[in-house]
Amino acid sequence: MPREVREVVFVDGVRTPFGKAGGMYAETRADDLVIRCIRELMRRNPQLPPDRVDEVAIAATTQIGDQGLTIGRTAALLSGLPKTVPGYAIDRMCAGAMTAVTNVAGGIAMGAYDVAIAGGVEHMGRHPMGEGVDPNPRIIAEKLVDPSALVMGSTAENLHDRLPGITKERADRYGLNSQLKTAKAYADGKLQPDMVPVALRSAEQGWGLATADEAPRETSMEKLATLKTPFRPHGRVTAGNAAGLNDGATAALLASEETARELGLPVAMRMVSYGFVGVEPEIMGYGPIPSTEKALKKAGLTIDDIGLFELNEAFAVQVLAFLDHYGIADDDPRVNPWGGAIAIGHPLASSGVRLMTQLARHFAEHPEVRYGLTAMCIGIGMGGTVIWENPNWDGEAK
Ligand SMILES: CC(C)(COP(=O)(O)OP(=O)(O)OC[C@H]1O[C@@H](n2cnc3c(N)ncnc32)[C@H](O)[C@@H]1OP(=O)(O)O)[C@@H](O)C(=O)NCCC(=O)NCCS
Repeated sequence: MPREVREVVFVDGVRTPFGKAGGMYAETRADDLVIRCIRELMRRNPQLPPDRVDEVAIAATTQIGDQGLTIGRTAALLSGLPKTVPGYAIDRMCAGAMTAVTNVAGGIAMGAYDVAIAGGVEHMGRHPMGEGVDPNPRIIAEKLVDPSALVMGSTAENLHDRLPGITKERADRYGLNSQLKTAKAYADGKLQPDMVPVALRSAEQGWGLATADEAPRETSMEKLATLKTPFRPHGRVTAGNAAGLNDGATAALLASEETARELGLPVAMRMVSYGFVGVEPEIMGYGPIPSTEKALKKAGLTIDDIGLFELNEAFAVQVLAFLDHYGIADDDPRVNPWGGAIAIGHPLASSGVRLMTQLARHFAEHPEVRYGLTAMCIGIGMGGTVIWENPNWDGEAK
């Protein structure tokens, strides 16, 4: 049967405030965070009949305990979606939610789904990075990768070694700018509209309400210069130029463009192309460069066509490697206009949808921009990029 590929649109995205691992969500279950996001998506889009949701794909890196049990299915049930709505769990480490989005997009494009929910959750307080992993000894014994490839901060140090033009001072300045941009975005009320408040309970402190990210902080180049380099003596990667360890969840609504129009759902972004690649695991932060090349090629675009960038800031050095590759200035206003993971936090498998949600807001504010890009590096040496088109584009300029 011949069939046409259908346009896939990003309808809406939300996230919880991101907490510090062991911070405000210490006594909150991981699955409750993502359930909160799914419920909020349904509340914000009442024109969507719940039984029209065809799939719920939820990512988590550590799929055990309250992040296990096929979390997409259990979160769908616990969100109050009809029992007829299926769901599944997904893992591509930091790009879990991004992969959830591209997976359901594939299903929408080929007609298997009309509407789907994709998101991610990571409670790094309850499930520290590497919990329960048992790497096959052959990985090291057969020198498939250097042992440093399994420690993300060490891969960032390795990237600094390969790219000596990216100094610690540059990485610190990038980290400082991320904090400053996020502080301004908060003051201007840019981040709050897509944040769903989360009820908190603490045995010691009683009830509370999370309404803002916990990680952003005031800092300065002087303070940043004094921080320890935990991944290597006299290294360059510090808590100030790396994303932290965080708890949080995200969820997004995707649909075929025709279904969105039929149901009166907003069209915030149109998916253009995506690319995932593998790179040397020792320098995993390099990944977004070839994944962007791949996504651009598939779209028939060049980097000059991209007017807005939402890059995950796992480490300043990996964003700077990307910017250097494309000849983009460290403080280019098109890049992460509201700061990034260094300030906001990076609950691994949830972050991809945060990038997309923010890009959707930028698109609404920038009708002069036609294309934008979300990209992230991924553990064990990968990169992922999704290119989006702005439906508000006024056709005047890029
Ligand atoms: C870098 C890392 C090891 C730091 O962990 P940590 O030591 O628990 O971090 P903290 O928040 O306690 O910060 C360490 C110190 O720096 C200080 N600090 C952190 N950020 C700061 C900033 N922007 N300005 C000034 N001081 C800062 C803290 O106050 C703390 O000081 P203290 O030791 O006097 O209490 C951790 O965040 C990490 O592993 N990040 C990478 C996560 C990762 O790999 N993600 C996956 C990516 S692929």
